[in-house]
Amino acid sequence: MSEEKFTTKQAAEFLGVSTSTIYRMEKENLIESTKTPGGQRRFLKEQLAMYLEKSKHIKAPQNPSQYKQQTQPKNISNINEEISTSHRIIFGSCEKMEELDNNSIHLMVTSPPYFNAPFDYQGFFEDYETYLNLITAFAQESYRVLQHGRIAVVSCDDMLVKGEKYPIVADITKTFLDAGFRYRDKIIWRKPEGYIRISRRSGVLLQHPYPMYFYPDNLQESVLIFQKGKYKYPQPDERSKIDIIEFQKNKWYLTVWDMVNNLPSKNKENNYPAAFPDELPYRIIKLFSNVGEVVLDPFLGSGTTTKVARQLRRNSIGYEIDSSLMEIIKEKIEFYNNFIFTGKDTIEFYDRAEGRIVEST
Ligand SMILES: C[S@@+](CC[C@H](N)C(=O)[O-])C[C@H]1O[C@@H](n2cnc3c(N)ncnc32)[C@H](O)[C@@H]1O
Repeated sequence: MSEEKFTTKQAAEFLGVSTSTIYRMEKENLIESTKTPGGQRRFLKEQLAMYLEKSKHIKAPQNPSQYKQQTQPKNISNINEEISTSHRIIFGSCEKMEELDNNSIHLMVTSPPYFNAPFDYQGFFEDYETYLNLITAFAQESYRVLQHGRIAVVSCDDMLVKGEKYPIVADITKTFLDAGFRYRDKIIWRKPEGYIRISRRSGVLLQHPYPMYFYPDNLQESVLIFQKGKYKYPQPDERSKIDIIEFQKNKWYLTVWDMVNNLPSKNKENNYPAAFPDELPYRIIKLFSNVGEVVLDPFLGSGTTTKVARQLRRNSIGYEIDSSLMEIIKEKIEFYNNFIFTGKDTIEFYDRAEGRIVEST
């Protein structure tokens, strides 16, 4: 037997499926891998080739191409299967979302860059005023493009830079009110203990157990919810009905949401440092939009909002200033996997600087 081995990505290309499908297939013992000393998966080419041959005449899930069609993301009822969605990723600044018409968006959900955060955004903004200018433009543009009555959600946190704490949550709230939004709610996103990434400050008191040495470790982020005027409740759309069991079980009804944040890892598929967990746009999209509507993320990053909007059968538009993220976004949103749903999705990447679509399905 040939010893030629494939990485997960190569195995996915070889079988014509996405890497996440490879993981699912492995979990269901349809294929096997070995691990390198560094913990990376390796798949024997010979075994994959045999598998491909064997599965040719068999119905899904053994046949990879049919397996994709059988795979359903969680909590999506069959009623939504046949809805096609379209997704647009625009490489350009969200300060001017000139590609979008007034009142054309049903929901905005995003997390802006963290002001000069150590590691991720060190020195990214010249000063705090420059940062607030970006936030002001983004708030005004969000107001312009959102439909009346609709929701804008901003996940953000105060930031400690070189010993100074910046009141970002308060400033973003004020900026959104100035742009015309109503302040509807604030959810505290509580991260698990042990998931602190940037600064572990509480040790100072352990070294100096006296008054004034108290610097707590930060475990939370604010999820600010704004609304553009009042919403006229239409006839409910049955396809968008919220699963009450999930709502109760995971305590969506509280102002504190326990969600596990992503930590960057050496694993290539997860090496974008500032992504929010799927669970955040998942809850927001389900709570504030209907199937078939348009969700906007002006600071798209690795594409989490697009990914979840696609799973939940919403259309989406994302802005991202850094076009080098294209491959990371493609990987996350399963760009190459157009068979995961029976509806046909279209996805396009538009580069504003080049003035053209650089890639599309
Ligand atoms: C906190 S990250 C967003 C992470 C995203 N929620 C995810 O899950 O991957 C902020 C992103 O905004 C991008 N960004 C910064 N300034 C921007 C601008 N003016 N317009 C659009 N994107 C911008 C950064 O490159 C970064 O990828």
